[in-house]
Amino acid sequence: MPETVSFDRAAEFYDETRGFPAGEEGKIAEVIAQTGNLHSASRVLEVGVGTGRIALPLAERVRLLAGVDISSAMLRRLRSKPGSAHVVTAQASADALPLPAGQFDCAVAVHVFHLIPTWKQVIAELARTLRPGARLVHCWSRQDAVTRQLWDVWRATIPDDHVMNVGVAWEDNETFLPAMGWEAITEVVEHRYAHDLAPAVFLDRLRRRVWSQTWRLSDAQIERGAATLEAFIKATYADPDAPMRVTSGFLAQAYMRPG
Ligand SMILES: C[S@@+](CC[C@H](N)C(=O)[O-])C[C@H]1O[C@@H](n2cnc3c(N)ncnc32)[C@H](O)[C@@H]1O
Repeated sequence: MPETVSFDRAAEFYDETRGFPAGEEGKIAEVIAQTGNLHSASRVLEVGVGTGRIALPLAERVRLLAGVDISSAMLRRLRSKPGSAHVVTAQASADALPLPAGQFDCAVAVHVFHLIPTWKQVIAELARTLRPGARLVHCWSRQDAVTRQLWDVWRATIPDDHVMNVGVAWEDNETFLPAMGWEAITEVVEHRYAHDLAPAVFLDRLRRRVWSQTWRLSDAQIERGAATLEAFIKATYADPDAPMRVTSGFLAQAYMRPG
């Protein structure tokens, strides 16, 4: 079985490389609040809470926000931020939640199921800790077209079994919960947002192993992919350092557990 993906190594640069443009956090919290049917009395659990990118703006809207993560460094980052007193944190694996049954009105999982080999056990734990009638809001992303193309060029140089998707495959994001018997109770809601992207910055982040997809690769694999990508970027963009305005999407869908 593939190992758990520790984000300890990413805690220092996670926000800088995954943050939303200023002003988007509140809109994303609103999408989750709407799909999760959240209000000021709601008790919410986020699994894979990380540095609180999602939890902190959400916590302002609900009675309780409990965040669980396996990485102590990511949780430390969260606790260093303003507003973190509104998030109750626990270091634990989402497949063995140190929480009583039937406590939460909503669970939130953002960019996490692809990282956990025991994702079916995570789903069982969410079913156990949600109260009857509660919702699970699952969120993932739609990459902008430029980023997608850069990833495709790089990925073509890497053996499939070496990338870090050890859990749910990206293409199964809309089907894995229904396949486990969960009922979709909303459509997929997409919040689109514009941001700047320079191909040279993407290449530099790849070389610096910013993204978890690169963490299992050897230095030689990283450099081979980076060299291929560098050649592609030089041939495609007149000024690889010039930021382009691109549009990405944050997607959310709410479910109810089986039975
Ligand atoms: C891509 S980050 C997402 C963080 C946050 N949800 C966000 O969107 O900013 C994935 C997080 O899941 C955590 N994680 C990975 N495996 C986990 C597990 N088995 N149990 C709990 N958290 C886990 C990582 O430590 C990391 O903080």
